[in-house]
Amino acid sequence: MKRIAFCLALCLVAGGCAYRHYLGVHGPSIRRFPEIHAGARLDEECLACHHPDRDPAGPPTSHPRFRGCLKCHDDEV
Ligand code: HEC
Ligand code: HEC
Repeated sequence: MKRIAFCLALCLVAGGCAYRHYLGVHGPSIRRFPEIHAGARLDEECLACHHPDRDPAGPPTSHPRFRGCLKCHDDEV
């Protein structure tokens, strides 16, 4: 268990490895709403519509500090 926690922490920091395949941690995909999300690639763009403190247009995220949104939210539906 410790090892998994460490890997997750490391991955979130490094942002590089395929932790979602390893742990199965992935969120709902932006591909469910392709028109809304066309053109959004950067974390900053995502947060403009999803940051809980910014009166977001979309559902507020519980984890605005995460980096690499698309690693968890760009799966096939
Ligand atoms: C122009 C504003 C806008 C931008 C930019 C945007 N979103 Fe969204 N997003 C929305 C709206 C609005 C919805 C709600 C759609 C609905 O429920 O009809 C949504 C829904 C979502 C959902 C929920 C999907 C579901 O199935 O419940 C996730 C996850 C999400 N967005 C992530 C992201 C990520 C990651 C990015 C950056 C790549 C991003 N969004 C960029 C407006 C935006
Ligand atoms: C480590 C994987 C991971 C990363 C990175 C990540 N998310 Fe998520 N996200 C999830 C998971 C899992 C859920 C579903 C559980 C929850 O709602 O907390 C979720 C839920 C969401 C939702 C709520 C969807 C709804 O229907 O309510 C939004 C919005 C969202 N994420 C946006 C973002 C944004 C924006 C970023 C980048 C700043 C991001 N996420 C980064 C895993 C991640």
